[in-house]
Order: sequence, then structure tokens, then C-alpha cells
Amino acid sequence: MRIGFYQFFPIFGKKVKNLKKIEETLAKVNVDLIVLPELCSTGYSFLSRQELSKYAETIPAGETTQTLINIARKKNLCIVAGLAERYDNHIYNSAVLVKPDGKVKIYRKAHLFYKEKFIFNKGNTKFLVHSFNNIKIGVLICFDYIFPEATRSLALAGAQIICHPSNLILPYAQKATITRAIENRVFFIMANRVGQEKRGSKHLKFNGRSQIISPDGEILVKAGPKEEKVKIVNIKPELALDKLITPYNDVIKDRRTELYSK
Ligand code: ACM
Repeated sequence: MRIGFYQFFPIFGKKVKNLKKIEETLAKVNVDLIVLPELCSTGYSFLSRQELSKYAETIPAGETTQTLINIARKKNLCIVAGLAERYDNHIYNSAVLVKPDGKVKIYRKAHLFYKEKFIFNKGNTKFLVHSFNNIKIGVLICFDYIFPEATRSLALAGAQIICHPSNLILPYAQKATITRAIENRVFFIMANRVGQEKRGSKHLKFNGRSQIISPDGEILVKAGPKEEKVKIVNIKPELALDKLITPYNDVIKDRRTELYSK
């Protein structure tokens, strides 16, 4: 199975331009599953909920999801990508998983980062896995990585590949996700963005360095801190079904849940 990420610089507020860039780039790739960054069609630094509201879209009717559906159908691939979702009077920081047949699944970011708390609603979708060609896929968004329970919940639900659309700022995220892959023995596709956004008093620098990690914690491919790049690697997803660290240590079965606090 060929899996990959597209690390790029979404221009704030330029949805049409960002979607065109995604379309042009993905037209050239040969891949089964590709992950794009968080909020990939709009950029990140909304100054208010009112401003965010102008860009949020319904799923699947909105233009971001419709564009992704067209690409997934045309290229026969699965895409996971972040976008601002409007649902009734809620706005979520969401990701869609779009399959080649046009079917769409939604994940809404559970753990909002920093000032996202003032403009987005907290996600309510639970940590569910989705099947694609009999492979189980889970989705997290950016700051979810800091809560081991999120990746663990997906692993317990059978996820073999974690797709992680991101807009990372903190310097240790890349290291932490290596641990998430090892402790759950899953593949982990971190798709970060690059570039800076200066809006109002906010100046955010996104640190790139997207990577795909194996269940052993090996970095299979990675991108630099500033470049726009597609990276793809061929994997055997069944490796993530083997939860043994040694012949006598299974990272799922050996848990001592009776000793853990909630
Ligand atoms: C983040 O959750 N965008 C850091």
C-alpha cells in the first residue's frame, strides 16, 4: 500500500487558490492514501468566530469536500484532510476521510489547541476507525497527539494507520508522534504545514517536518521544516496487526487496566 502526505503552505483565506494547488499537486501523484494538513483550504489564524464563520463549510456539500471527492474519484485514492466544518450553529475543526467511491467520513478535533478554544466547538465524534481496502484507518488532528488516550483509543478500535492532519507549532510534536506509533504499534502519517501567518497580534510559525512512522518508530520518510513536498512510501499495513514488542509483551493485551486511573 502506497501512503503519503502533502506538506504545503496554505495561504490564509484563499480557498480557491489553495484548492487549486491541492488539485494540481494530487493530479500528479500515484498513491493509495494521502494526508493533507489541518485547515488545509483556509489557513489557520482566524481572528474571531465571526471571521471563521465566513469560511466554514458543510460536509459534504462544501467546496473543500466536493473538490476532494472529485480528486479521490478521478485518482482512485483515499484522502484525509482538515477543514473548518459548519454543522447547524456549531463550527468544528474537522477532518474528512474521502474514499475513491466518494463516501465521506468526518472526524471533529477533540482537543482544541490554545485560542482555538475561543472560536471552535469541541469535537464530538469519538475515536472511530474506518475501513479502506480492508485496512483500518484512524484520524487525529494536530494537538490530539499530546493526549496518548486519543491514539490508544484508535489502536484499541483496530486502527493500523493513523492519519494526522496538522498545523504544528510546538517543537516536540514530531518526537511525540514517534512514541505514539511505538506504544501502539501503528503506522502514523503526520501531515504538517509550512509557512507563517501574521494576523492581528498573532504571528504563528508552522514547523513542517511531516513524517511517516512505522510501528517500530522508524521514520520512513520525512520533509524539511520549510519545503512544500509530497512524500510517499510503500508499506505493509498488516505489520500494524502485530502488537508484540517481544514474544512475551503485547502492547494491547498486556495492559493492566485494573491498575490505571481514569
Ligand atoms: C494545533 O493543534 N494546531 C497545534
